[in-house]
Amino acid sequence: QDTLRGLAEEAGIEFGVAVNADLLAKNGKYRNIVNTQYSSVTAENVMKWEAINPAPGVYDWAAAEALIANAEANGQVVRGHTLVWHNQLPTWLTTGHFSAEELRAILENHVRTVAEHFAGDIQQWDVVNEIFNDDAAGSFRETLWYQAYEELGLPGEQYVADVFRWAHEADSAALLFYNDYNLEFTGPKSNAAYAFVQELLADDVPIQGVGFQGHLDTQYGFPDLQSNLQRFADQGIEVALTEVDVRTFVTQKPNGTYTNTPADAAEGAQQVDYWARTLEACLAVEACNSFTAWGVSDANSWIPGWFTGQGAGLIFDLHSNPKPQYEALREVL
Ligand code: XIL
Repeated sequence: QDTLRGLAEEAGIEFGVAVNADLLAKNGKYRNIVNTQYSSVTAENVMKWEAINPAPGVYDWAAAEALIANAEANGQVVRGHTLVWHNQLPTWLTTGHFSAEELRAILENHVRTVAEHFAGDIQQWDVVNEIFNDDAAGSFRETLWYQAYEELGLPGEQYVADVFRWAHEADSAALLFYNDYNLEFTGPKSNAAYAFVQELLADDVPIQGVGFQGHLDTQYGFPDLQSNLQRFADQGIEVALTEVDVRTFVTQKPNGTYTNTPADAAEGAQQVDYWARTLEACLAVEACNSFTAWGVSDANSWIPGWFTGQGAGLIFDLHSNPKPQYEALREVL
């Protein structure tokens, strides 16, 4: 068994991928790669609030359930993503002019409803996603939940402890994670996250893991992932690489559109190296239980749509052929 999932099983971790539910349903080649190469799947979009609760009181479980059924049929575990986030919220919620009290009730109802619905099917939940800002102060993101709590006279960040408790009551088996980006290396944000997790644990909040998204970029370097993962793990929790991709600038065509070829060959080599080192760091930390790539191939990666001029972030190319990144990962495993 020298697929990624086969090698990862021997290494004692799950090797995961973010799955596009439409492609999984309609594209046999895509489905085959997902099912043969990965032992864990994350819904790239279909468990997010706007997708699963598109109208007040209306829950649309079908796409997520199909994804879970496919995972179960293929012996894969599922990472739930995500119960509480400030993005991809339904417009009924963001434009609804709810009072702070109503917002708190909506939040509680959502967390309980979704966690309860999927209880038994989810190995780990990203209970909260992206709760810190990127500033030098390591401040909390003032999301609508944060603001509602402040309006109620509570500390804004208290919503986080509450949603972990509600999620745990609804699904006591799932490992409950806080997930964020720019936590990979030490700095104001990861230091703030570290201190906050410490507080949650001291308050007996049921948090069992921290997810390091791992959206890396060759222009920003790769300082100290392993030791940073280790210090979080030393708090007695699990850690995971949850959304890995490694982007770089790609060459532009005369008509202005972008190719999938790194503009700088040395940066292209760095991409391969960053993938390998990210996986090495996870393997070196006992509590790192899974490593998930944010998409299968460069043809379905979110990167070109979000970072102008960048791409080539994943391990299969536009035609679903393995890139050197894929071989490098197999060697690390
Ligand atoms: C991205 C998806 O990949 C896109 O398809 C969608 O349009 C926007 O969201 N951090 C996260 C993920 O936690 O949910 C995001 O996924 C990427 C950044």
